[in-house]
Amino acid sequence: MDTIVGGIDHIDWAVELLNRGELVAFPTETVYGLGAVATDEEAVKSIFVAKGRPSDNPLIVHVSDVASIDSVARDVPEVAKRLFERFSPGPLTIVLPKSYNIPDVVTAGLDTVGVRIPDHPLALALLARLAKGVAAPSANTSSRVSPSRAIDVYEDMCGKIPLILDGGQCRVGIESTVLDLTKEVPTILRPGGITADMLLEVLPQVQTFSGEIKVAEAPGMKYKHYAPTCECYLVKTVEACKAYVESCSGQRVSLLAMTDFFTACGVPGIDLGATILDMEHNLFAAMRDAEKCSDTILVQYPTSEGVGASVLNRLIKSSAGKILEDK
Ligand code: TXA
Ligand code: MG
Repeated sequence: MDTIVGGIDHIDWAVELLNRGELVAFPTETVYGLGAVATDEEAVKSIFVAKGRPSDNPLIVHVSDVASIDSVARDVPEVAKRLFERFSPGPLTIVLPKSYNIPDVVTAGLDTVGVRIPDHPLALALLARLAKGVAAPSANTSSRVSPSRAIDVYEDMCGKIPLILDGGQCRVGIESTVLDLTKEVPTILRPGGITADMLLEVLPQVQTFSGEIKVAEAPGMKYKHYAPTCECYLVKTVEACKAYVESCSGQRVSLLAMTDFFTACGVPGIDLGATILDMEHNLFAAMRDAEKCSDTILVQYPTSEGVGASVLNRLIKSSAGKILEDK
């Protein structure tokens, strides 16, 4: 199959393909999604095939506006609507009781469904034109780094899907916050761009993720995720970085770090920018670029404040918790 990459002028074709049961990759503000009409069981099954994704890992359903949430979820509590009004379109997925028309294959047999309104003009135009919920995981091969550019989707999905909508590099750069509202205490299953402190503007309490991958709250959390194809370490200090590089001469080591740390190390690699938001935005694209020309990637251990906690969550998985620090 030929895979076409196109922009806004390909929206009508994207709608046609989705209505025919085909898959379309599309940009969101977080990462690119691999979409199928959520009520089309066969199309949704083909997402799992294209990604090589285990069938017990549930998908998120995307809709264009708050009014459409009742078409994919049932008994939607008032507080969910308030959260969507406050943070959507945006990087927040809310787990709710699922509507009966959403097939089990979407939710891995769970009685709940993750719902999200993505903040990207192409995604919103596509969803509004289609007027149906779109089930979409990140558009990477399972266990690989999520794609934040059309070219990264192309690398994993070329020949497997007919169309990739190209909307440029994703603004946020890591996946949405997943908040489960079906638990007694609202629980963050995956940290992301909307932090616990932000959610507390609307909710009286939020149970935060513990920071460890062990907590298998969501079925998807037990799988290896976000891993580059080469060795990956988190590095806490400039000294630890320099010492590691000295100890492995002859190896191709790339450093991914924020500007100050990057400059101080003087090691080849990619400057991720000045702020933690820049790091969040650039990280996945930099990992995909660096893995192609490196034996080992070193990534600066980020702050755990604010969205730093979400970035750190992904990096602990990418590095399998391997950390370099001062002796
Ligand atoms: O930003 C994002 O969320 C991107 C874009 C494309 O929207 N999507 C994304 O999907 O990251 P995916 O499939 O790679 O990750 C979704 C995760 C699953 O691994 C699972 O842990 C959780 O969301 N999830 C989805 N539905 C759930 C449910 N009903 N209950 C608990 N967790 C759920
Ligand atoms: Mg994913």
